[in-house]
Amino acid sequence: MEEGVIVNIAVLCSGSGTNLQAIIDSVKSGHIPANIALVVSDNKDAFALKRAQKAAIETLVLNRKDFKTREDFDKEIIKNLKKKNVELVVLAGFMRLISPYFIKEYRNRIVNIHPALLPAFKGTHGIKDALEYGAKVTGPTVHFVDEQLDNGPIILQKAIEIKDGDTESALLERVHKEEHKIYPEAIKLFVEGRLTIEGRRVVVK
Ligand code: GRF
Repeated sequence: MEEGVIVNIAVLCSGSGTNLQAIIDSVKSGHIPANIALVVSDNKDAFALKRAQKAAIETLVLNRKDFKTREDFDKEIIKNLKKKNVELVVLAGFMRLISPYFIKEYRNRIVNIHPALLPAFKGTHGIKDALEYGAKVTGPTVHFVDEQLDNGPIILQKAIEIKDGDTESALLERVHKEEHKIYPEAIKLFVEGRLTIEGRRVVVK
């Protein structure tokens, strides 16, 4: 990214949007030098939409059922991202697989947060799976998105301890607390142009 230029980002959410809130707060405080140009949701009831509206951020709701294919759905999202000159797509609890078409259009410019230390515990139950497996550490991962699920190059991770007697909700709370720190941090690094992808490795300048 060019120095001093404000980058437009879009955040895609399906649910509560606590990560969106952390990103909104970091943009507001000036920590992330970016503009949240659009919040997109596939769920009209997502609380994330309320958070966006409260922060006077434009929102777009698209129902997957209104589109024949996943690619048609993604094309509509991309059309709207391009209208807003979005340069970084942030997936924050977006419960849909991104099509290869979307990846191609925004290659190395889509990031995601996963609630486990990738490549362990991929999929939609990263916290529960780590707990049930008996792992002693877990924690969130921010990564670039590629064609495979929870697979792209890792930007930041934060390990936290799983304690004896931990419950899913207690662990979720601690994982979320760290997500809310590392996601804004990773976005900041991206928009400041400090991330370079070298094979599977992301180098931070
Ligand atoms: C987070 O736990 C994230 O790791 C996962 O989805 C959850 C989103 O939570 N991808 P929220 O909507 O940001 O509160």
